[in-house]
Amino acid sequence: KMLCRVSNLRRYAASLSPALNCVASRQKHTLPDLPYDYGALEPHISAEIMQVHHSKHHATYVNNLNVAEEKYQEALAKGDVTSQIALQPALKFNGGGHINHSIFWTNLSSNSRGEPQGELLEAIKRDFGSFEKMKEKMSAACVAVQGSGWGWLGFERESGRLRVAACANQDPLQATTGLIPLLGIDVWEHAYYLQYKNVRPDYVKAIWNVVNWENVSERLRAANK
Ligand SMILES: [Fe+2]
Repeated sequence: KMLCRVSNLRRYAASLSPALNCVASRQKHTLPDLPYDYGALEPHISAEIMQVHHSKHHATYVNNLNVAEEKYQEALAKGDVTSQIALQPALKFNGGGHINHSIFWTNLSSNSRGEPQGELLEAIKRDFGSFEKMKEKMSAACVAVQGSGWGWLGFERESGRLRVAACANQDPLQATTGLIPLLGIDVWEHAYYLQYKNVRPDYVKAIWNVVNWENVSERLRAANK
């Protein structure tokens, strides 16, 4: 019955104008499920942090992204360029928050092998000298972020090389630097404060114990295609 109502609405919207049809048929973003339990990353990241981080913080980015997109669609339909431009910071912040966290959850695992393997390990050695040096460089970038932001291991398509980068706030790596994200470390206080208080370096040190290197390898393979 619900489906019927939705399709009637769409047909009605389509009869009004193509722009409205676009609004009616747009898919809303949804909070992705975690691929593990909230407590799976203990003792390195507490269940309480994971629960609040996923079900509150990430959920808020998803909700606010949907609101911003809806307003943006309205502005597009009206040809209101001023409103479209005014909505860009909200799209960047909430869209970035959704993109970043969706990557972050899959970058982590309770079954971390501890070290990268295969092609990923070879690329890390080639571009940083060793796995230890890459970790040092990325950890330093994470600790150095002023205020809130992210540290990233990314792939630069032009050179075919891995790069370490840092982004402020929720600036998404690919949209703001061109690098393809492989591994992100969230260094917002909401990611560690309940467990590590103000000591971000301890959180960054601990998170290496729960990196899903399989996921990082898959992302490199996909980026190389
Ligand atoms: Fe976060």
